[in-house]
Amino acid sequence: MKTIALYPGSFDPITNGHLDILERATRLFTKVIVTVAVNKKKDAVFSGEERVELIKECIKEKDWADKVEVNQFTGLLVDHAQKMKADTLVRGVRQISDFEYEFRMALTNKRLAPEVDTIFLMPDEEFTFISASIVKEVAYWGGDLTSFVPPLVATALKDKFSDK
Ligand code: PNS
Repeated sequence: MKTIALYPGSFDPITNGHLDILERATRLFTKVIVTVAVNKKKDAVFSGEERVELIKECIKEKDWADKVEVNQFTGLLVDHAQKMKADTLVRGVRQISDFEYEFRMALTNKRLAPEVDTIFLMPDEEFTFISASIVKEVAYWGGDLTSFVPPLVATALKDKFSDK
């Protein structure tokens, strides 16, 4: 198996579904770099630094944490992959509806950098409907986030939406 994989995403914020995919990736690769895409054109609730910190906090007690590095990037993902010496991109696919977008993205990345492969991992069934957007919607209206995100992420979301 290849050694370094990049797990990219917006992670605004990280969810239990992301953590499930990340754990699976650590079983397949020697090192997994979780990389937060900071896109100035896209409105995010958390800054790049805040998202990186939340991810680090969420994984620090895991027994696979030493296989994971967390950083952020702006620009093209494949450029960042090459800079990090990663030859595999990991993406989670929850449902068939995710696949069209993921397939387009994987083919675009392949055209830009043919040596970088994308692999798709399925999360556990219980996480298949969880997305950062749904989590933010539930948080905005004050819903219970227990089964969606780790407690520290739930607290961070509550703080963000406290003055809504
Ligand atoms: O969690 P997301 O929002 O589905 O992640 C999408 C992400 C950040 C991985 C994707 O938008 C991305 O790679 N952005 C960086 C710009 C880029 O390289 N675009 C070309 C591939 S479509």
